[in-house]
Amino acid sequence: MTGSCGMQADLDRVLFDQATILRRLDQIAAQISTDYRDRELTVIAILNGSLIFMADLLRRIPLPLRLDCLSVASYHGGLQTSGEVIFRQIAQPDVAGRHILLLDDILDSGTTINAIREKLQTASPQSIRVCVLLRKIKERGRPTEADYVGFDIADEFVVGYGLDYGERYRNLPCIGVLKKELAAS
Ligand code: IMP
Ligand code: MG
Repeated sequence: MTGSCGMQADLDRVLFDQATILRRLDQIAAQISTDYRDRELTVIAILNGSLIFMADLLRRIPLPLRLDCLSVASYHGGLQTSGEVIFRQIAQPDVAGRHILLLDDILDSGTTINAIREKLQTASPQSIRVCVLLRKIKERGRPTEADYVGFDIADEFVVGYGLDYGERYRNLPCIGVLKKELAAS
C-alpha cells in the first residue's frame, strides 16, 4: 500500500492510506448513526490528535449533533505517556443529561481516555461512549473500553492523519510507522 503521502521518507512504512481510512470511517459513521438515531448526540473531540479524524467522521454522520472539544496533554512530546493528564481548557463542555461520544486519535495506555471519562462522569451525563481511530494491541494497566475502533494496530509509534511526533506529521494524509531512528531522537 503506498498512496500519495508526503513526508513519506520519514516513515518506515505506511499502515493505512487515505482511501482505506475513509472507507473505514464510512462503516463507523454508519454504525454510530444507527446507534444514536433516536438520541441527541454530543461529540467531544480530544484535541489536537482527533481533529482530522473528527472532521472526516462527523461529515459522515447525518444526525443533529453538538460538537465540543477538550484539550488535554499527557505526552509532552515524548514517546511514552507521562501518566498524568492535564486539562488545558478552563470551561468544561456541558455534559449534564447528554449522550456523550468521546473522540480520540489513538488508545495507547488508556490514561487519557480513563481520566477524561472519569472527569466527565462527575458531571452527570446520560451516557458516555468512546470512539478511537486506532487502538494499540498491548497489555494495559487498567482496562480501557472503546465502543468504536477504526483499526487495531501493533504497539508501534505511528504518525499522520492527526497523529504527531513533537507536533509534526499531523497533516500527513496517511498513517504510518515512524522510522525508529527518528522516533528515538
Ligand atoms: P494514552 O493516554 O497512553 O492512551 O495516549 C493517548 C495519547 O497519546 C493519544 O491521544 C496521542 O496523542 C498519544 N499517542 C499515543 N500513541 C501514539 C502514537 O503511536 N503516535 C502518536 N501519538 C500517540
Ligand atoms: Mg500527541
